Amino acid sequence: MTTVTEQQTLPRHVAIIMDGNGRWAESKGKHRVFGHKHGVKSLRKAISFANEKQIQALTIYAFSSENWKRPKKEVNMLMELFFTVLGSEVKKLHKHNIKLNIIGELSGFSERLQKKVLQAQKITEHNSGLVLNVAANYGGRWDITQASKQLAILVEKGELTPDEITEERLNDVMNLHSLPAVDLMIRTGGDHRISNFLLWQLAYAELYFTDILWPDFDAEAFQDALDVFSGKERRFGQTSEQVTAR
Ligand code: IPE
Ligand code: IPE
Ligand code: MG
Repeated sequence: MTTVTEQQTLPRHVAIIMDGNGRWAESKGKHRVFGHKHGVKSLRKAISFANEKQIQALTIYAFSSENWKRPKKEVNMLMELFFTVLGSEVKKLHKHNIKLNIIGELSGFSERLQKKVLQAQKITEHNSGLVLNVAANYGGRWDITQASKQLAILVEKGELTPDEITEERLNDVMNLHSLPAVDLMIRTGGDHRISNFLLWQLAYAELYFTDILWPDFDAEAFQDALDVFSGKERRFGQTSEQVTAR
């Protein structure tokens, strides 16, 4: 687990809950789908901004494990959009040396979509630039559960004792463990909650909430979040005096 005590000006890892697509569309008298499509444009902008800023990793929440509860029509449309966007964007990502990584319970998707995900990941797997993690059918509780299961299997095989289960051991089987810890989590859309996003990985992230709806989120709005982040004193449990004495 990476912890950094010095004040950072730029986050190494940013996570985003891209919320507000439906309300954005409804405010324009359109169907929610219209908002999701526009949300893809904002996502492109956010990716190129993160890339230009040389942020190491960007993790975006595309579909939560709870989003299956939405009307079937909206779920189907989101799956179709995910499929199309994977196909149309992966070449561009590759051209920019971006490494795509999908996190979440892949088995919940259709075979066709699972195949597309694996293909897209394969194309960019050796890239060394921005790591783009797309959380799809992802839930923070699922992540902790799947990690616990992995350790339980090792215990069952006699390869690990319960005493050897430490935060580090569990962290090693959580998603995103090989990346720097999330420094900054942005949520658009006005709500101040985590909605089962990265529960474990957000332990010491700075949380930034904005009323801007995701389709209106642009480079300027992203920069505002970075500016607020750079003014934060990150203490990681220490006192302000200890941190400033370094
Ligand atoms: C976020 O926007 C996108 C997904 C959850 C896929 P919403 O669809 O939640 O938009 P609002 O929150 O209803 O406005
Ligand atoms: C969180 O947004 C999930 C994504 C952005 C993918 P939701 O709109 O699903 O969150 P809740 O239900 O309002 O908490
Ligand atoms: Mg929402």
